[in-house]
Amino acid sequence: MTNRITGISGPTVSASPKGLKMYDRVSLGDAQLMGEVVRLEKQRAVIQVYEDTRGLGVGEPVRSVGKPLTARLGPGLLNRMFDGLQRPLDGLYQEYGAFIQAGKQAAQPWLARTFSFIPLKRPGDETRRGESLGYVEEGPFKHYIPNMEADGRIVRIVEGEMGLDDPVAALSDGTQLYLQHDWPVRLPRPSRGKRARVEPLITGQRCIDFLFPLARGGTAIFPGGFGTGKTILEQSIAKFADVDVVVYVGCGERGNEMAEMLEEFSALDDPRTDRPLMTRTIVVVNTSNMPVAAREASIYTAVTMAEYYRDMGHNVLLLADSLSRWAEALREISSALEEMPGEEGYPTYLASRMAEFFARAGAVETADGKTGSLTMILSVSPPGGDFTEPVTQACLRTTGSLFLLDTNLAYRRHFPAINWFQSFSLYEGDVASYFNRQVSPQWGLHHRRCREILQKEQRLREVAEIVGTEGLQEADRMLMHVAERIRREFLMQNAYTEDAYSSPEQTNEKIGGILEPYFRDTNTPTHGASGTEPGPDYPRTSLGSKNARPEA
Ligand SMILES: Nc1ncnc2c1ncn2[C@@H]1O[C@H](COP(=O)(O)OP(=O)(O)OP(=O)(O)O)[C@@H](O)[C@H]1O
Ligand SMILES: [Mg+2]
Repeated sequence: MTNRITGISGPTVSASPKGLKMYDRVSLGDAQLMGEVVRLEKQRAVIQVYEDTRGLGVGEPVRSVGKPLTARLGPGLLNRMFDGLQRPLDGLYQEYGAFIQAGKQAAQPWLARTFSFIPLKRPGDETRRGESLGYVEEGPFKHYIPNMEADGRIVRIVEGEMGLDDPVAALSDGTQLYLQHDWPVRLPRPSRGKRARVEPLITGQRCIDFLFPLARGGTAIFPGGFGTGKTILEQSIAKFADVDVVVYVGCGERGNEMAEMLEEFSALDDPRTDRPLMTRTIVVVNTSNMPVAAREASIYTAVTMAEYYRDMGHNVLLLADSLSRWAEALREISSALEEMPGEEGYPTYLASRMAEFFARAGAVETADGKTGSLTMILSVSPPGGDFTEPVTQACLRTTGSLFLLDTNLAYRRHFPAINWFQSFSLYEGDVASYFNRQVSPQWGLHHRRCREILQKEQRLREVAEIVGTEGLQEADRMLMHVAERIRREFLMQNAYTEDAYSSPEQTNEKIGGILEPYFRDTNTPTHGASGTEPGPDYPRTSLGSKNARPEA
């Protein structure tokens, strides 16, 4: 018996429930629109449709695909652009032109390609789930092909040019293994376990790398009001971050911004490898004019592809702009389902959904025994720049670092507008020793001095507002001057100039160039007055270090 549509309300469709399962993907009507079963009752199934339901009618058939929403994982994902349901947008364009109708599927043109498969196993070998069978070359990488089907003994394995749908190996129980497999997007891919996060993820943004460093496998959010530079920051990080693969999700943002970014990225080279930037990038686009249900799915599709590359032992970075648009999609779907609303109409499970999503980040020992990491950097756009709203608050509970974008700084054209008092990074302690070892033994010292100067400046400014700068003591005026230099020359970084990327060495040199003359000239103790206790490598004497001026 085929299921039939019994009611339609916007993107929410009711149908007869017999035989349908929760989260099954379904195809609706003669137009074959894609949808997902989100509620099952005795009398009806509720289906969330990923596409425009215009023209769909009651009584039209509903066919279950028999599995949940999946992403297809295999070679050929890099250097491509997908929509939230992993339909290749370039493929759709080639087949249907600019006017794609709902329900159309691209014949996934990368299927036509072949890859040269090099086996790592031989007939007679045992294989476990998650283990690599062999690899193909994809751009700069060895793209490992995992067995995601079953444990067993290999009876046949091939070598040479293979299409994605050709079996490359067979197990004794008859299981066939291919270059590609499908994975349910809402299910985290398995690993042997999480690892401690000790390696920094270098973003090339001085304010982040120096003041609030990120660790590979960590999570960061940057909430910021309208026009505070979220998109520019996300894109700068996508260009310069020290990772193997970048998955960029344009979630509910402007289409023309995405178009500009794609154009720019296609023309750029990866600063590390001199290959085109796109060869290590996957873009998932779900702009503001695309259906909300697909937007809700888009971050899961993206994180699944990111995990897939992580499982090959790569360092992967997932960027999403913006998570608020995803939360809004969730709210829209939830209210269409008439669920009990929580704070500001967001569903009551908003925080737990987010926590689940954030938990997919991490440095892991992969199922194949390699080490890979998945880092997330997500922008949040709180309406009216109000950071007490539920999405920002829910993120705050789970994120490892926060870069708060400040409207006042943006207004003064201080970009990136990261507020250095209200931002934090929990990874600071873990990665500090790395910078001290790898970049400069002065790194930690500079870090603390810089913080103290910025803090003292804040207090002096309050005083100066009352007594005027002339009323300040000479030493305080010098401190205000060096703080100004830190802000203007060090923390500000124009994304449109050569300065857009700063390596850790350049960062260290720059801050040293500002701080060292100051401490040489002033001989000022930098602690005590501020109340901060010196750390272990912070000299007790006022200067104490090599660059101190000998006492006269
Ligand atoms: N690092 C930067 N260097 C120079 N200019 C910047 C930088 N970051 C932001 N800007 C300026 O700020 C403007 C707004 O930035 P952006 O579009 O990234 O803001 P947004 O927070 O994404 O805004 P919206 O909330 O509208 O999405 C940019 O057009 C640019 O002029
Ligand atoms: Mg933006």
